[in-house]
Amino acid sequence: MDTSTLIHTLDARYYTHKDIFKKERNGVLTQTWQYAGHVSQLKEVGDYFTFRIAGENLFCIRLKDGSIRAYYNVCQHRAHELVSGSGNCRTIVCPYHAWTYALNGQLLTGPNLSSVPGFDKSKICLMSVKLENLHGFLFANLDPESAPMDDWFPRVRTELLEYVPHIAQLKPYRVINFIEKCNWKVAVENYSECYHCKFNHKSISSGVFRTETYDIQPQGFCLRHTAECQNLERMHYPIDLNANSTAGKYSSWFLWPMFSFQVFPGNVLNTYCWREVDVSNVDVFRGWYTVDGKESTVIRDLSNLDHETTVTEDVRIVESVQRGLQSRGYRPGPLVLDPEFGINSEHSIKKLQEWMIGNYSP
Ligand code: FES
Ligand SMILES: [Fe+2]
Repeated sequence: MDTSTLIHTLDARYYTHKDIFKKERNGVLTQTWQYAGHVSQLKEVGDYFTFRIAGENLFCIRLKDGSIRAYYNVCQHRAHELVSGSGNCRTIVCPYHAWTYALNGQLLTGPNLSSVPGFDKSKICLMSVKLENLHGFLFANLDPESAPMDDWFPRVRTELLEYVPHIAQLKPYRVINFIEKCNWKVAVENYSECYHCKFNHKSISSGVFRTETYDIQPQGFCLRHTAECQNLERMHYPIDLNANSTAGKYSSWFLWPMFSFQVFPGNVLNTYCWREVDVSNVDVFRGWYTVDGKESTVIRDLSNLDHETTVTEDVRIVESVQRGLQSRGYRPGPLVLDPEFGINSEHSIKKLQEWMIGNYSP
């Protein structure tokens, strides 16, 4: 068969070469919106938490006027890191020589600074990065020129509110963290198609959504998944279809490159956040949310089931693919692009791979 006219998957080196990983760390990963944390982690003025993007150490902090800022976690004197983990502070004091910054990043004082002729404290300020709040979810972008999230991900803000009307009251209830031994792109590609669902995910395809209704469409730099809920008697947990107009639907918004909102039927929000570790390891944070972060046996059981089935099944898949990509016996295979779209098409992979090779910003 002549397969030369078909669209093929990317060359294996995209997933295995250190040089490409390095390029991504200086390119796409510094020029896209990445999840930092949730506003509920910053209740009081001076509350902060650290996070990483593209290998950079950063922190978010709540200012006196109630706003939130993200800074590079580095002192403007001789580069010591300023804070670690999470906590609260009235001013940001560097542990090395005690230079002290206001919460708005301005240098306030430091030992013996006044004796230096011409030293102008007002010229020294922590370096901030772009930060946006999407219904309580904070996203940072290291590119000062980046377009706002609403340009990258059209309609997502409004749609999330339709699917999770109580999103403003939600707080993280549980975050399950694990490593997948694969390139970050293998992990997000696997998330972005359901061609593999029937053979690998019996639990989610029999007890959450009806696979025959599943579809994925690009929406700006978002991949939007939609499906109808499974018949009520087969659902893993009870839902009230009369609660609102979206209660019977499944939907997911994958936000390029490494975050996804997923709403299970019954308006149950959960998230995936992937963070590259090196060329063949990715850190995964699987978040579950309840009103005020309160205990919920339904969400506890559902998140346990999800971890034991879908997540474990996917870990097995992506780690096997990564090993396969290192095989001398692999050549890029043709993508299955069904002109009718639907669950058995890999249109979303084609789109993702266009972004992966560099066409990745609005
Ligand atoms: S490096 Fe921070 S005060 Fe010297
Ligand atoms: Fe999967």
